[in-house]
Amino acid sequence: MTDPEDPELIDTAPVVRDGALDRPIALVGMMGSGKSTVGRRLARRLALPFVDSDQEVETAAGCPVSEVFERFGEAAFRQGEYKVLARLLDGRRKVIATGGGAFAEPGTRDLLRARAVTVWLKADLDTLVARTARRDTRPLLRGPDPRAKLAQLLDRRTPDYAQADIHVVSADGPHGRVVDAIIDALTAHLEENTAS
Ligand code: S3P
Repeated sequence: MTDPEDPELIDTAPVVRDGALDRPIALVGMMGSGKSTVGRRLARRLALPFVDSDQEVETAAGCPVSEVFERFGEAAFRQGEYKVLARLLDGRRKVIATGGGAFAEPGTRDLLRARAVTVWLKADLDTLVARTARRDTRPLLRGPDPRAKLAQLLDRRTPDYAQADIHVVSADGPHGRVVDAIIDALTAHLEENTAS
């Protein structure tokens, strides 16, 4: 069966096939929570397009996120992130991996909550530290104590992330398990919201 909105895609998952999902899915949560990796797999399982908002910011800016921070500052990055997300949230069904700070910005959070089903990928501090240590591309973690910085951001942002529609634990282990948990939670959420 094909998706009438995206005829080139094979539409397999019931939550997509039966039309209950009528908007983009946006993954939110801390750096290292697995938004991009899990998002890509989730998109494949749902036969939907995948897009990474950091990558889109980089394309628009013509340089890496770290350089945007260095040359223009975090506030300019946040403005760019808002603009990119406003463009990506066009009503079409897709999976969007947002940058870790997007849902902590009130305006960007309002936009995401209005136009997407939002999924918080929850991971504990040890997991975030281990996963983010694998790459040094994140400007906010380039200081002397990345663990303390992650702890501070996690603490500050948790009440923001908690406003997501769906909360799913992203622990170590097969990503497929997290994808299954998202699809189950998404199905329940959409059922609840169409029943009322
Ligand atoms: C940020 C997270 C990064 C990126 C930027 C700022 C944050 O995205 O947007 O470095 O404020 O948490 P990831 O969560 O994809 O690493």
